[in-house]
Amino acid sequence: MVNQDLIVYLNGEYLPLNQAKVSVLDRGFLFGDGVYEVIPVYGGKPFRLAEHLERLSNSLAGIRMEQPLSTEAWGEMFSRLIQGVEDQQIYLQITRGAGTKRDHAFPKGVAPTVFTMCTAIAPIPASGVKAITVPDIRWQWCHIKAITLLANVLQKQQAVEEGCVEAIMHRDGFALEGATSNLFVLVNGILLTPPKDNDILPGITRDLVVEIAQANGIVLEQRKVLLEELRSAEEVWLTSSTREVLPVIELDGQQIGKGQPGPLWIRMNALYQERKELLRKGL
Ligand code: PDD
Repeated sequence: MVNQDLIVYLNGEYLPLNQAKVSVLDRGFLFGDGVYEVIPVYGGKPFRLAEHLERLSNSLAGIRMEQPLSTEAWGEMFSRLIQGVEDQQIYLQITRGAGTKRDHAFPKGVAPTVFTMCTAIAPIPASGVKAITVPDIRWQWCHIKAITLLANVLQKQQAVEEGCVEAIMHRDGFALEGATSNLFVLVNGILLTPPKDNDILPGITRDLVVEIAQANGIVLEQRKVLLEELRSAEEVWLTSSTREVLPVIELDGQQIGKGQPGPLWIRMNALYQERKELLRKGL
C-alpha cells in the first residue's frame, strides 16, 4: 500500500498523497484522456531518463498535447520526489485537464493535469513466472502510452485469476506483447522480438535488451513473431521497467523449455544488472 503521507507532485505543488485531489471533470477521470510513464530509479537516479522523456513527448504528440514541462523541470521534480531513496519507480501522468462540462471534444484554454509520485518496486521473481495467451482487444494505437488501459486491466486480471502474472496478447496469428510488458522469444537459437509499430508499446526495457544483445553478439531479429513460435520457443521473456527481464517458464499450462529460466536469460539478466550497476556508480 502506498503511504498516505507520501509527498507527491500535482500541478506545481508538492503535497501529501491524501491531499492531492483532482476535479471529477478531469478528462483523465471522464475519458481516460491522458498519457503516462513509469521510470525505474536505481541508486537514487532515474534509469534511461532521456529515453522515457522522449517517449513521453511522442505519446503527448500522439494525443495532440504539448509537453507541459521542460526536461530540466522534470529532472528537478524527480530529484525532489526521489528524496534519496535508492531503488523505486517514478509514476507520472498527464491528462488534458478539467473542462467546464463533459464534452468529448477538446476544451479550449484548459491547463493539463500533471501528477507524479515515487513508489516502491516489487521484487522480481527470478525463478520465472507463468503466463497465458489472450486475443488482443485493445485499440490500434498501442504505441501511445495512454492511461486508457481497460483492455490491459481485464487481460491482466484474467491472468491473475488463472494463477499467472501476465497475459500475452496475439492478433491475426502473431504474438505481440504482454498486457504490461514487451515480449522476447528464443526460437532455433535466434532471439526474436516484435517490431516497433502501432501494435506494441515501444518499451524502453525492450530497446535496452536489443542494445545489449547487439553489443554482445547475441543473434537478434526484430520481426513479427507467430503465435506458434511463441508456443514452441526455447525461452520466453517479458520486459518492463518494473519487471526488468522476466523469464516465462509456463505458457497456457505448458512448460517452456525445461520449465526453468534458460541459459540465454541468465546471460541477458547478468548483462542487464551490469547496466543498472553502471548507473548506481554514476558511470
Ligand atoms: N508498463 N507494453 C505494455 C503494454 C506496457 O504497459 C509496458 C510497461 C511495456 C514495457 O515498457 P517499458 O519497458 O518502457 O516499461 C510494454 C508499465 C511498467 C506499467 O504500465 O506499469
